[in-house]
Order: sequence, then C-alpha cells, then structure tokens
Amino acid sequence: MPAVPVESHPPLRVALLGCGVVGTQVARLLAQQADDLASRVGARLELVGIAVRDASAPRDPAIDRSLLTEDAAALVERADIVVEVVGGIEPARDLLLRAIGAGAAVVTANKALLAEDGPTLYKAADDAGVDIYFEAAVAGAIPIVRPVRESLAGDHVRRVLGIVNGTTNYVLDQMTTTGMSLEEAVKEAQDLGYAEADPTADVEGYDAAAKAAILASLAFHTRVSLDDVAREGIMSVTADDVAWAAQTGHVIKLLAIAELRDGATAAGAAGVSVRVHPALVPTSHPLANVRGSFNAVFVEAESAGELMFYGRGAGGAPTASAVLGDVVSAARHRVLGGKGPQESTYAELAILPPSAALTRYQVRLEVDDRPGVLAQVAQALAAHGVSIEAVRQPGTPEAPDGGQAAGVAQLVITTHTAPESALAATVEAVAGLEPVRTVTSVLRVEGA
Ligand code: NDP
Ligand code: HSE
Repeated sequence: MPAVPVESHPPLRVALLGCGVVGTQVARLLAQQADDLASRVGARLELVGIAVRDASAPRDPAIDRSLLTEDAAALVERADIVVEVVGGIEPARDLLLRAIGAGAAVVTANKALLAEDGPTLYKAADDAGVDIYFEAAVAGAIPIVRPVRESLAGDHVRRVLGIVNGTTNYVLDQMTTTGMSLEEAVKEAQDLGYAEADPTADVEGYDAAAKAAILASLAFHTRVSLDDVAREGIMSVTADDVAWAAQTGHVIKLLAIAELRDGATAAGAAGVSVRVHPALVPTSHPLANVRGSFNAVFVEAESAGELMFYGRGAGGAPTASAVLGDVVSAARHRVLGGKGPQESTYAELAILPPSAALTRYQVRLEVDDRPGVLAQVAQALAAHGVSIEAVRQPGTPEAPDGGQAAGVAQLVITTHTAPESALAATVEAVAGLEPVRTVTSVLRVEGA
C-alpha cells in the first residue's frame, strides 16, 4: 500500500493522562520521534495536553509545562487518541469511558483496571467503534499481548508461563546474588521506577495476577478476572529459602501460570487454571537466567510449539515503547481506516479452583533423627497418593546457639506432580506426625 503523505491528513490529537515514570517517557518520545512517527502513521501526532494530579509539581525538563492540566475530563473530550498512564481504577476507568464516549481511540498500560473491569471498557470501545490497545499492560516493553491476541489467533494456546513482574524479579535476584534483604531490594526497585506507586501490588502478587488474568483471557478466549487468579506474593520468601534453593540447584522466581486442562471439570469439559506464586525453578531452566527487572514469558501452542518472549518488563522508556506502538496502531486506523481486535470470549471455559492446579512441592522438614522416621513421612505422602521424586538429608540443622542440635535431622522432600489439594493435605498430615518438629518451608517446583 503506498504511504499516505503526512501533509494530506490533519494532525491527530493525542491526550496524555499521567506524567509519572511512564507518561514522562511517552511525552519525551512523542516529541523526539515526531517526524518518524508522522511518516509511519501518515499524519502528525500532536500532543494536545498532559493531565496530572498536580500541575505545579516539578517535572522532567523534557515536559512542555504549557501542556499540563489538572482537568483530565476536559482534556479527553478534545483528543483523537487518549493515552492513560495514570494507573489504578478511578479516575482512570471514568476517563477512559469518557474518552471512548467522545469517539477517541484509547491506549492504556493499566493492568489493574483491565483485570478488574476490562470487559466494561472493551464493550464500550466496541459499541463506539473505536480501538482499545493495552500492550504495555503486560510485561512492559515485551510484545506479548499482540502475539497472543493476533499472531496466535490461528493456533490453540495450551499454556502460558512467565515472569511478568519486574519488581519481584529484581528483589528475588538481589536476594539471591547479593544477600540483600527483601525490604532493601524493594526500596531499590522503587527508586529505579519498576515498582507500582504502592509496592504492595508487586510484592503481594496482585500486579502479576492482573497480568496473568489478561494473558489467560487472550490465550483461552475466556473472561478471566483478577479474582479468578490464585495468588501468593513473595513476602514469605526468606533469605534461608533463597540459600536452600541454591543448594538444591534452583532459584526462586515469582511465576504466573495459565494453563488449559482438558476434561478437568466435573462435566469432563476443559477448564483454565491461572495462578501466581513463588516457585523453585531449576538453574538449568531459561527462566532461572531472567535477571533483574527483566521479564520472560513462555507460550506453548498446539501448532507453534514453544515460544519465548524476553525483555524489559518495567521502567519508563521500555514501557513507553509499548505504549507508542499502540498509539501508532490506533493512529494508522484513524488515517487508513480499519480497527484493532475486539474482546474474544467465545470459548467460555470454566475457571478451575486453585485446588485443581497440578504442581510439585519441595518440603523442608526438621524431624527426630531416629530409625523409622523417614518411613513414617513416606507413608503419609503415599496415603494421599503423592509420589516422592527425591529425598535429601543434607545435614544437621544449626541450633539457635550456633551449635548443632542433637538428634534432629533435616529432610528435603521433592514430590512428583500432584493436584494442589493433595499436596496441601499431605503437608498438613506430615506436620502432624509425632517425629516431625517443624515444616520449615513448602515451595512449589516448576519448569523441571
Ligand atoms: P506514576 O505513579 O509514576 O505516575 C502516575 C501519573 O498519574 C502521575 O503523573 C500523576 O500525577 C498522575 N495522576 C495520578 N492521579 C491522577 C488523577 N486523578 N488525575 C490526573 N492525573 C493523575 O505511575 P507509572 O508511570 O509508574 O505507571 C502508570 C501506569 O503504567 C500504571 O497503570 C502502571 O501499572 C503502568 N505500568 C507501569 C510500569 C512501570 O515500570 N512504572 C510498567 C508497565 C505498566 P502527578 O505527577 O501530578 O502526581
Ligand atoms: N510494577 C510493575 C513491575 C511494572 O514491577 O513489573 C510493570 O508492570
């Protein structure tokens, strides 16, 4: 198709909502790359306003202060494309709905909002015949929404497995490589602009769960919301867990897993399991080498096989890159006609309860060091139909006074794959055995 001369189309008005870590970089790149963007779109992109909470606050020198406004509602009424990088549920939802109602295409990086109430936005955009794009909402700069939504539209996705939160990956990586405490590493991640305004969303797994919900919805053509995701954050991961992981040839990663299970429902229909939790990953697995704030997502599809997407999952400029890609797509539709994909929920698969997830456990125990104890523990696992893959007895744990606790043995048990419900019941049974002094830690094992 011949390029549309830039001069032949009036400029497209872009409104930017938010001028924080991401918004600042979006504004900078819109100005710096104005000529290239105009050539790619076929019209100039004119930034007509930047809505913020406090227009008098200090800003990056790249920001044209004359564009700042505290009246976001008025700004969205005078734009062709509205970019929302405010975050949170309100006023972001209201502003996006207003923008859509006014006929603007919208681009958002707001996974929290999409995972909570995406369908309302998708429907509004569909009714209004405008685009809604959200590549930056999952895994920052990594193109993953478009590949799952468009490139794999001719395939059947079976599983999505990934590291989708930069902050927690940074924190776990720092704990592993420098011995830094969790709190110190979170502070560093905040200073580097990776963390959400409230880092609870990162460390408690809400951010990753929101991304998992978005990816699962796209991958399985089924509505999956934040409440459907079984979620555990990293706050319970200790320095001791990290050190033990290394001793057993693993690293700890916060994983998001969404998988299709054939015949998994009571009626024998397929179901979808979506979960986020810390897990032991073998050091030989590619995910173990995803360092710092980087993200990586594996997608398994029936015909395509395994695909891996890797890159920067957080930070201003990387996220702005994904936002601008969406702006260009929406802008091209304004110039050339056409529309991006709509929500696809035709499969309407059942969402499986957390107890139905299949996983493996590594359980660390302190037990009385005497004959027959291992047999009792093995019996408890067998009674719940859980098969043992390996047992290690790595040495006597240290007593609190620094000496050796007499008569106490440490056991590290790794199970084969079993339903989460069976594994949880097994750990409870083992904890109740007379010779078991403490269940020191229970971690899932993935990627083996
Ligand atoms: P920041 O907290 O850095 O910036 C938020 C911006 O929104 C600020 O400019 C703030 O104004 C403005 N704002 C807040 N409330 C209002 C309001 N009521 N009206 C108008 N403006 C308002 O957030 P981030 O840039 O880090 O994140 C933005 C979005 O991008 C979030 O949805 C986040 O999840 C997502 N995202 C962030 C990534 C990252 O690495 N940071 C990566 C991927 C996605 P003021 O400056 O005056 O306070
Ligand atoms: N706080 C998020 C993270 C930003 O750490 O991954 C990217 O969504």
